Amino acid sequence: MCRFISKSEKETEILAQKLCQNIKAGSIVLFSGEMGAGKTAFVRGALRAYNNASFVSSPTFALVNDYGGCPKIYHFDMYRVKGEDDLYSTGFYDYADENSILFIEWSENVRQFIEEFYKDRIVEIDIEKTENENERKITVRGGEF
Ligand SMILES: Nc1ncnc2c1ncn2[C@@H]1O[C@H](COP(=O)(O)OP(=O)(O)OP(=O)(O)O)[C@@H](O)[C@H]1O
Ligand SMILES: [Mg+2]
Repeated sequence: MCRFISKSEKETEILAQKLCQNIKAGSIVLFSGEMGAGKTAFVRGALRAYNNASFVSSPTFALVNDYGGCPKIYHFDMYRVKGEDDLYSTGFYDYADENSILFIEWSENVRQFIEEFYKDRIVEIDIEKTENENERKITVRGGEF
């Protein structure tokens, strides 16, 4: 487990880029953290580690953004996803192959189903707000961490 403090959105992006040098194809990144914590900001930084220039936004309505690239990158928002049938409908099981990296916002909603089959591929990233407006506590578990 590794813990970090970020003092700005930019710092979160830079940290994400560095951490993702150790997050390889086949990984499933499960975010936890409230609205506005910085999950999407983290993904924006992460893509730079893979030289992927796609525009990153919360896939709130689409449920999944396909950023392509090599490795292929998929960005999920599970905010409205409840239960295993819902998870299946997002395409998660099709996308979760060993050549892809999945970044999953609101993974709290689907974690139990993902853990069941993909435990050894999971990297958990928790982003927690603090009393300082622009500060975040970022905790990374699993994978190389
Ligand atoms: N240290 C920080 N790291 C990341 N974001 C920060 C930080 N400090 C302030 N912010 C602000 O917090 C917001 C984070 O927004 P972002 O869309 O990344 O959150 P999110 O966790 O994806 O939220 P949602 O669950 O609504 O999708 C941005 O407005 C950003 O400027
Ligand atoms: Mg988001």
